[in-house]
Amino acid sequence: MNFPDMLEAKRRNNSKTEYVYLENNQCNLYENKKYYIRTYGCQMNVHDSENICALVESLGFTQTENFNDSDLIILNTCAIRENVHDKVIGFLGRCKHLKNIKKDLIIALCGCMAQEESVVKEIMSKHKYIDIVFGTHNMHEFTNMLINRKETTDINVYSINGNVYENIPYKRDSNITAWVNIMYGCDKFCTYCIVPYTRGRERSRNPKIIIDEVKGLADKGCKEITLLGQNVNSYDWKEGNNSYNFAQLIAKVADLSPFLRVRFATSHPKDISNELIQTIANYPNICSYIHLPFQSGSNNMLQRMNRGYTREYYIERIQTIRSIIPHCGLSTDIIAGFCGETESDHQDTLALMKEVVFDAAYMFKYSVRKGTKASKQFNDDVPENKKTTRLNEIITLQQQHSLESNQKEIGKTFEILVEGESKRSKEHFFGRTTSNKVAVFPKQNSEKGMYVQVKIKECTTATLIGDIV
Ligand code: 5AD
Ligand code: SF4
Repeated sequence: MNFPDMLEAKRRNNSKTEYVYLENNQCNLYENKKYYIRTYGCQMNVHDSENICALVESLGFTQTENFNDSDLIILNTCAIRENVHDKVIGFLGRCKHLKNIKKDLIIALCGCMAQEESVVKEIMSKHKYIDIVFGTHNMHEFTNMLINRKETTDINVYSINGNVYENIPYKRDSNITAWVNIMYGCDKFCTYCIVPYTRGRERSRNPKIIIDEVKGLADKGCKEITLLGQNVNSYDWKEGNNSYNFAQLIAKVADLSPFLRVRFATSHPKDISNELIQTIANYPNICSYIHLPFQSGSNNMLQRMNRGYTREYYIERIQTIRSIIPHCGLSTDIIAGFCGETESDHQDTLALMKEVVFDAAYMFKYSVRKGTKASKQFNDDVPENKKTTRLNEIITLQQQHSLESNQKEIGKTFEILVEGESKRSKEHFFGRTTSNKVAVFPKQNSEKGMYVQVKIKECTTATLIGDIV
């Protein structure tokens, strides 16, 4: 069986990108074989894994949670920080060990790490037991690589070429919530960040195709869509006289049904326009929640990071959001110990946190990524122990803020979309408020996919606890 029989690629040119339409067929080459997939990193990666699962299942594989029982192991990797890289290399050791026992085991590595030249070199010299390597731009070729297996490591990684793939199959675990990509890549080039190099240039999907995909999901009973992209609010589509920005796109998606909740991630402070904030406020089914990474509260650091805004601008955006959407949930990303960060820069970060009081935050120690501007131009000069101390101070403050933010909700009633069973108890469901707070409550007569009114009676830093009223 050759590649064109499996996947038919039809190409057409677009002024900005090349679109590749895929038509997927089924085959039973790997019937009765099992695959195990491990995903590292962000929602984009988790969503990519939904595509990878659908692709390998089209060859006959079934998924297993049992690593030792698998015939194919897929590692969908992340390159954003050194510690994730180390985790992947650690896990590869386990894979190698299993392959010594099971000679036919296929090991595949993909995702952002595969896009790094140094990693590919490392694989070629030290990890020859890996069978297949493919990048973030050519996931669709994985099936072909599995069909036409090679004797030695089959490395098939595209450099950044700006393709957008359509008609992609996905295996979605939940039929209540779903992710939909609206764009790929990033053009912001923050000096510390590897993403523009691993995910390529920013390219937006055709709004018609996005709307059709969301419609298809809603018709199948999906109740909540998260529009995904590295910077969704930079979404920009132009064709002839037609153009769409993110505010226009999200309004179109929200117009599909008042019962479909719409979320989005991630947003960049530079592109958080008044038009977008107003659109979120205008639509009750667009969730009142914005993830808006600020990274550092110091203007010196923001400039070094090439973030393109100042702390004053960021705070003004938050004030505008809160004035137009009073109960908007706000979360952020923060980096501790970037190159040249002084104690006073760090204090600026803590001060900004105190001024805004975020509902949640993802907090990281800076780690050098090879190939980024920061790795070439700045010294990673904040000692490790200082990075740790600063990160801990940031985490402690955020925990206090998260708890305070949740405590404010006690006694209030929220509309919650029932997403599934709570991990801790079969008698409880969990779901989220529009502001993205997770709530846990006894099932009573509710069902997955229903909207219920939940009165909050207690909380932890991460969860609201209540009862259906
Ligand atoms: N070191 C630490 N954190 C980083 N991030 C991105 N690159 C790095 C790095 N080199 C963080 C940023 C970004 C989040 C996804 O990861 O906070 O918003
Ligand atoms: Fe990385 Fe900056 Fe792009 Fe976010 S905006 S993905 S931090 S380069």
